[in-house]
Amino acid sequence: MCGIVAYIGPKDATPFLLEGLARLEYRGYDSAGVAVTGRTGGIKSRKVKGRVADLAADIPARFKGTTGIGHTRWATHGVPSDANAHPHLDNAERIAVVHNGIIENADELRVRLTAEGAVFRSETDTEVLAHLIAAHATEGVELEEAVRAALGKVVGTYGIAVLDAEQPDRIVVARNGSPIVLGIGEKEMFAASDVSALVRYTRQVVHLEDGELATVRADGFRTFTEDARTTHRQPSTVDWEIDSYDTGGYEHFLLKEIHEQPGSVERTLSGRLDERFATAHLGGLNLDARELREIRRVKILGCGSAYYAGEMGAQLIEELARIPAHSEPASEFRYRNPVIEADTLYIAVSQSGETYDTLAAVQEVKRKGGRVLGVVNTVGSAIARECDGGIYLHAGPEISVASTKAFTSTVVAFALIALHFGRIHDLSPADGRRIVSALKALPDQIREVLAQSDAIAELAAEYAESEGMMFIGRVRGYPVAREGAQKLKEISYVHAEAYPASELKHGPLALISPELPTVALVPDDELLDKNLTTLGEIKARSGRVLAVAHRRPDAKLADHCVLVPKSEPELDPLLLNIPLQLLAYHAAVALKRDVDKPRNLAKSVTVE
Ligand code: F6R
Repeated sequence: MCGIVAYIGPKDATPFLLEGLARLEYRGYDSAGVAVTGRTGGIKSRKVKGRVADLAADIPARFKGTTGIGHTRWATHGVPSDANAHPHLDNAERIAVVHNGIIENADELRVRLTAEGAVFRSETDTEVLAHLIAAHATEGVELEEAVRAALGKVVGTYGIAVLDAEQPDRIVVARNGSPIVLGIGEKEMFAASDVSALVRYTRQVVHLEDGELATVRADGFRTFTEDARTTHRQPSTVDWEIDSYDTGGYEHFLLKEIHEQPGSVERTLSGRLDERFATAHLGGLNLDARELREIRRVKILGCGSAYYAGEMGAQLIEELARIPAHSEPASEFRYRNPVIEADTLYIAVSQSGETYDTLAAVQEVKRKGGRVLGVVNTVGSAIARECDGGIYLHAGPEISVASTKAFTSTVVAFALIALHFGRIHDLSPADGRRIVSALKALPDQIREVLAQSDAIAELAAEYAESEGMMFIGRVRGYPVAREGAQKLKEISYVHAEAYPASELKHGPLALISPELPTVALVPDDELLDKNLTTLGEIKARSGRVLAVAHRRPDAKLADHCVLVPKSEPELDPLLLNIPLQLLAYHAAVALKRDVDKPRNLAKSVTVE
């Protein structure tokens, strides 16, 4: 949602803070700010509505300090503005705070602090923290004690970094529901909400646990709990490649991540295919064959594209393992007092592993005694830790706000789960082998689709001018249509609707006109004839059709066609989705959108 960075060491903090914020900007980008202090005392702070580049342009040359914190924001409390941007300072300008998360009792605390003399200058919940910490930072009190005491009065979620002009030899950070990671350097220390801000400087990191705080000094750190018990945390090494955090010659992260898919799919599959028994090895599930046989139902939970990937996953599980499976938005599930059944397996899907709605759904299932597996990209993330087992995607960091490679790897992970479950149930060895070899062929087949990027760009430029677009698919094709529409609308802002092709004549056919073209998924499977009939119905209403197909439909049925290599029918959706990613990308470029940072969105939605 928002991003936090912090530095303490012998150097000027500002260049690191600005670079770190630029790297975190994908997490929120409506305002940004920094605060520094040092031996000369006092806090210097600068914050602006807008991008990190606007902040950098606003920082004077004399803005220096060896201890600093920074923030890039995605507004929740109060509009994006200079005043609402972080850091927030107390009235004496002694304490500066940056915060991710939500302080639920902010209103109540604001009334109390105002009565005690605090003057509020923003509409944010975070400013409450600055005044509250300052109120506890009385003569002789260590900053960590003031922070700990203040947090004791707070209800809500937070990742915070705190600076004190009177104790410039330290930064205090704390985590409760919003990640904080420490980076260990040579006589310097870093902290951030996400390792992507740190990897240029160090790969030795410590992830704080919920309820943990740390005092960070240039020469080391000390971690402790909210009740002041010291904790002992061992650093781990970040294993994602540093160049994953650069655009690597591509114009946008999104295009780079689309093109990385052959490699990311290979990593998701790596070491997990068992050719001898025609199955998949998934040690992390923590479920043996006997336990798996007792599962009567699978419920998949995720938000946005993760939910659509879950829909593809549910179809794979039903088809290969013949276990009833269903995907539901985690954001809805958690609010409807769901019935949790002992013989249902719950699977939470999340790229970031931080999405609050998904995390809350997992916690609800666990509270009621259910078993939850995670299909997660980010190792050690909150959702991964909360689950009873699961499978990591190993797709590498996904920086662009719109999900592409993580989406594809999620579906591949579900194919592995479905294969594993299927081979424990009634999937024959021959069918298992069929799926194993189709999975192995995917990376090259994805390359074949990617090679059509220029041709798809031409089509995208033409279709981007439409007043909206319809996406249709039947059965396996329907989740592909949903994800295709989602991708187009979120990065190009072109209105897009997804419908099951079978439902078109029950209503939405009324929308069809030359101004509203249809993207139709037309796999060469048992439903091909039905899909061709639907194309005929659209053309009869003067609708334009862009078919994504295995075989070119008759010119009378489709104006344009993108051909996709054939896989096994169960895996076709994976490949049919790739041209839709390119279509959305090129449409957004043609419309001059901010492709990697679409308006109103942020990468991880860590609030309700
Ligand atoms: C769409 C997109 C979002 C995310 C959703 C869940 O391109 O990126 O819809 O899929 O916010 O995020 P994760 O997977 O991090 O839980």
